[in-house]
Amino acid sequence: MKRIKLPVHIAFIMDGNGRWARRRFRPRAFGHRAGVQNMTKVCAHAFKIGVRIVTVFALSTENLSRPKEELDELFELFRVYFCKKKERLLEMQVKINVLGDISVLPQDIQDDILEMTEETSCYCGGLMNICINYGARQEIVRAVNTAVSYGRFVDETSFKDLLSTSGIPDPDLIIRTGGEVRLSNFLLYQAAYSELYFSKKMWPEFSRRDLERAIENYSARDRRYGNIRG
Ligand code: IPE
Ligand code: IPE
Ligand code: MG
Repeated sequence: MKRIKLPVHIAFIMDGNGRWARRRFRPRAFGHRAGVQNMTKVCAHAFKIGVRIVTVFALSTENLSRPKEELDELFELFRVYFCKKKERLLEMQVKINVLGDISVLPQDIQDDILEMTEETSCYCGGLMNICINYGARQEIVRAVNTAVSYGRFVDETSFKDLLSTSGIPDPDLIIRTGGEVRLSNFLLYQAAYSELYFSKKMWPEFSRRDLERAIENYSARDRRYGNIRG
């Protein structure tokens, strides 16, 4: 890659697994499997080129309304990546952190997630946040209720500490694949000044080179934060 301004934190809305599979006359689960494989490939590349924090949207709160068979297949994929084939995540040598309400997952997967976060807590190669049953509105409402229960007014700094991303800098760049141009309840508070990048590629076909292109595009942007020059 040419000399560029690298984002510290990239977040991915990994959309398009189902359509990618349908175009190949395969079941949606086939797309999800290809999607998780691609997640480890693209995230490993992001860390390799120097990105410090990667956040991936794996399952939204609203996705829980999908048919049970699809959810079971997604849960099985979590089981595979947090347990049976956990070396795929471990070999990145980054801290793994899960955001969202994982109490909806079978107990064994919750235990595997806890084990993975403990096992990787000493890794310093970067931070990977995996959002599972995550919804930004729910996160904001929960934070407000916590503040109310403390009987406290909040300011921007103390409010941020009540979010699940407490202590993590906001994403510099949010990449959504799959052709839709929306945030679908992802990091709504944290995305206030994120640069957004939309790719028509379906997630399983979003390549390392596509990631570099997105970063090059980001690098050429002028982040003004309301001021007159960046
Ligand atoms: C994204 O792919 C993965 C999840 C939401 C779990 P989709 O499953 O939404 O794929 P499309 O959008 O139907 O193609
Ligand atoms: C967003 O994709 C959620 C994830 C990628 C996990 P969706 O497929 O759920 O989004 P909508 O329904 O098209 O907005
Ligand atoms: Mg989708």
